[in-house]
Amino acid sequence: MEKSLYVLMVLLFSNLCNGYDNLALNKATWQQHPFPSQPEETLWGSDKAVDGRYSDLSALGGQCTISGNGNSTAEWRVDLGGVFSVHYVFIQYRTDNLAWDENNGYTSRFLGFSISISNTTNKNEGVLCFKDKNHTRATIPNPVNITCRYHGRYIIYYNDRTQQSYPVGYSSYAYNELCEVKVYGCATLGYHGASCSLPCPQNCQENRCDIVEGNCLGCIIGYRGPTCNDKCEGNTYGMECTQVCGTCLNGEQCDYVNGSCPSGCDKGTYGDKCEKACSGDHYGYNCQDKCSIHCFVPERCDRVTGQCEGGCQVGWKGTTCDTKCDGGFYGQNCSKVCGYCWRKDQCQFMNGTCLNGCDSGYWGERCTKNCGNNTYGPGCSETCGNCLYLYGEQCHHVTGECPRDCAAGYQGKLCIEEELIDSQQIRMSRNGKRRVILFNNSKYMDFPDPEKKTGKGERQVRLSVVNLNPSLMKMISPKILLMKNMLK
Ligand SMILES: *[C@@H]1O[C@H](CO)[C@@H](O)[C@H](O)[C@H]1NC(C)=O
Ligand SMILES: *[C@@H]1O[C@H](CO)[C@@H](O)[C@H](O)[C@H]1NC(C)=O
Ligand SMILES: *[C@@H]1O[C@H](CO)[C@@H](O)[C@H](O)[C@H]1NC(C)=O
Ligand SMILES: *[C@@H]1O[C@H](CO)[C@@H](O)[C@H](O)[C@H]1NC(C)=O
Ligand SMILES: *[C@@H]1O[C@H](CO)[C@@H](O)[C@H](O)[C@H]1NC(C)=O
Ligand SMILES: *[C@@H]1O[C@H](CO)[C@@H](O)[C@H](O)[C@H]1NC(C)=O
Ligand SMILES: *[C@@H]1O[C@H](CO)[C@@H](O)[C@H](O)[C@H]1NC(C)=O
Ligand SMILES: *[C@@H]1O[C@H](CO)[C@@H](O)[C@H](O)[C@H]1NC(C)=O
Ligand SMILES: *[C@@H]1O[C@H](CO)[C@@H](O)[C@H](O)[C@H]1NC(C)=O
Repeated sequence: MEKSLYVLMVLLFSNLCNGYDNLALNKATWQQHPFPSQPEETLWGSDKAVDGRYSDLSALGGQCTISGNGNSTAEWRVDLGGVFSVHYVFIQYRTDNLAWDENNGYTSRFLGFSISISNTTNKNEGVLCFKDKNHTRATIPNPVNITCRYHGRYIIYYNDRTQQSYPVGYSSYAYNELCEVKVYGCATLGYHGASCSLPCPQNCQENRCDIVEGNCLGCIIGYRGPTCNDKCEGNTYGMECTQVCGTCLNGEQCDYVNGSCPSGCDKGTYGDKCEKACSGDHYGYNCQDKCSIHCFVPERCDRVTGQCEGGCQVGWKGTTCDTKCDGGFYGQNCSKVCGYCWRKDQCQFMNGTCLNGCDSGYWGERCTKNCGNNTYGPGCSETCGNCLYLYGEQCHHVTGECPRDCAAGYQGKLCIEEELIDSQQIRMSRNGKRRVILFNNSKYMDFPDPEKKTGKGERQVRLSVVNLNPSLMKMISPKILLMKNMLK
């Protein structure tokens, strides 16, 4: 309420005055070389330049500052009492109330002057707004408005005659004979415009903006642009958006003011701003995962993915080397195939050993070898039957089955049964083919024509055809009997 009232008053005041305020009026002043003797010192003091009066521009009018004679530099300043937004500086130089032209003696003293604005009493720490280089006694204006669109506290008038040579028309010594210096600007911080009624954009640094266009002189943290309306973006933040965001989750923009990541860090980084990289033995979100000890170089991995440097140790797999070899594989890169372990068990993941022994028909530490030396079955503990071997083979290493027939006098798949003596040949009259049906107990065996020899010298006619004697008949199953009767 109070503030808006104040703003209103400023507005009214500005409107009444119809322009800027004279910020220098009756402010504290200083000059380098005051005129030496007493009465003149007060008559021509540095304050005369800001007393608001300049109707009499002669020495005796008492309205002008006059510096001492014979000095090679002349410096005068006004302290505005604070940092203000300035537009221009009005200067009325001494004329002695005579026409201001090349014949006026004071033109030669005004030539070469400069105006600076500074936040300290040292003009070199501020900004040089104007320095006369080109004027002559005929062209130098008086009074003159010097544009000085800056913020500052001290307005410093300066002239010198310290160099060897100066252009034609310059006086031999330096003087500041200022009848009036008005500093036009805005008395209220945070306003601009010809009547200081327009507020500066709200994100201007220190609420300071250009007095004419209203552009901020700088932005508060997190904003940018001429009027500081744009938040930092494009992965920047902070003062003037000059700082670069860390590695936020999914490449999100960090907080435009303090750089913190709103949803935390992406893989491989940690810290408030996700600006720190995981140390060599950690990886992942917030570096919370530890590199595997099963990495080729233990606990060395990519800080983002956890992928082990140089692959995994023997028996481990996966990018992070956290999984033992499985699925029937073992060894380096899980590239070796397990043997025939008992019940198809997984072999030892590093060296392939079958810890519970081998499946039927295999032997060796990794169960990769077929039973040999005429053995077969679990633990190669069974001995092959009486097979007919032609090429130095043996029975099947798992089942014990003979590769072809049995040796003479044996029968069965394993050729461990002795050959049936009591057997019956039955002529199968239906299709004219002879078949031999062997009976033993309730079982029978059906052979193709035993007399018709096939190739390879197979022994088909090894069976003697014997009449079924009564005691054998008792052992023949009814079904076979039926068949026998049927075929007769
Ligand atoms: C400058 O002026 C002062 C007083 O006006 C005087 O005492 C001094 O000698 C002058 N300095 C030079 C270098 O002329
Ligand atoms: C004086 O200080 C203000 C506020 O810090 C700054 O904006 C301005 O640029 C300074 N002026 C000069 C002339 O250095
Ligand atoms: C002032 O003179 C310099 C060279 O002495 C020249 O480059 C410059 O353009 C002149 N400026 C004006 C405003 O005449
Ligand atoms: C200085 O500026 C003021 C305001 O614009 C104007 O009234 C005055 O005539 C100007 N004086 C000179 C010498 O340009
Ligand atoms: C940064 O600013 C955000 C939003 O204001 C805030 O939630 C967060 O706590 C701040 N972080 C730090 C480290 O100050
Ligand atoms: C294991 O895999 C890695 C990467 O694919 C390869 O460079 C390396 O030669 C492999 N090692 C073996 C023993 O196969
Ligand atoms: C394979 O590893 C197992 C378990 O560590 C061990 O008992 C066995 O002796 C190893 N075999 C070989 C051939 O090193
Ligand atoms: C067979 O027995 C011999 C002598 O005992 C042995 O050296 C060989 O390794 C055995 N071969 C197989 C396949 O079991
Ligand atoms: C008949 O079969 C039994 C078992 O089924 C067997 O023990 C016997 O040796 C066989 N007899 C002949 C002569 O093969």
